[in-house]
Amino acid sequence: MKFDNLDLYAALMHELKNNLGLLIMTLDTIPVQGHPDHDQPLDEARLLSQRSVERLQQALLIYKADSGELHPVVDAYAPVEMLRELRDTAQSLARDRLHVDTLVGDQVPTLWFFDRSLVEMALINAIHNSLAHSRSRLRIEADMVDGCLAYTVRDDSAGYPDHILAYGSGGSGHGSAGTGLGLRFARLIAEAHDNNGRHGELRLFNEEGAVFRFLLP
Ligand SMILES: Nc1ncnc2c1ncn2[C@@H]1O[C@H](COP(=O)(O)OP(=O)(O)OP(=O)(O)O)[C@@H](O)[C@H]1O
Ligand SMILES: [Mg+2]
Repeated sequence: MKFDNLDLYAALMHELKNNLGLLIMTLDTIPVQGHPDHDQPLDEARLLSQRSVERLQQALLIYKADSGELHPVVDAYAPVEMLRELRDTAQSLARDRLHVDTLVGDQVPTLWFFDRSLVEMALINAIHNSLAHSRSRLRIEADMVDGCLAYTVRDDSAGYPDHILAYGSGGSGHGSAGTGLGLRFARLIAEAHDNNGRHGELRLFNEEGAVFRFLLP
């Protein structure tokens, strides 16, 4: 593909992403009425729009990674504030279906340096995964792990299947359902963050359910 074509696709993806973002904001202004006939299609429309936004963000990210331009734009952010916003997003998507809570470790600093929009993208995908697979609850945590700021999303799903866990140690991660892109992107984004030679990391494991741990150096 010629480079200027790629630029055109990137511009198109960017515009579609922004339009869908506006659509989500419009859907958010429609009040909840407590009737499944009214609320459920709205929730589905919001989730679908949100997923399309993510897809386009991922496509833009591939474009950047391919042209060697995936450089996190690092700034100081408040980890706890981001945690609250993630919880709000999760809660509004889960409604009454799942219980959502948060946990903040004692050692979490007031500020940490990272690319907020990239990290959010990775974590929101993890939240969507939990929404899709969890039985009854999902928890989002911020803590310090091995000297890194760690965001953890854990749920009470059946846990990651073996091929996904194997992917952590080099497997392809491509399962029968879904694209498997979300977790691959999360890893790409974690590893693109570095601090004095130390890179970020994605750790996936199972406890009561799936545990998604995203480490930022
Ligand atoms: N919380 C979870 N509990 C159980 N299985 C999970 C969980 N999250 C992910 N998985 C499994 O890992 C697979 C890969 O997840 P990933 O987010 O990479 O892709 P996806 O959700 O299938 O598609 P995409 O995120 O690209 O829309 C899923 O298809 C699912 O089988
Ligand atoms: Mg996913």
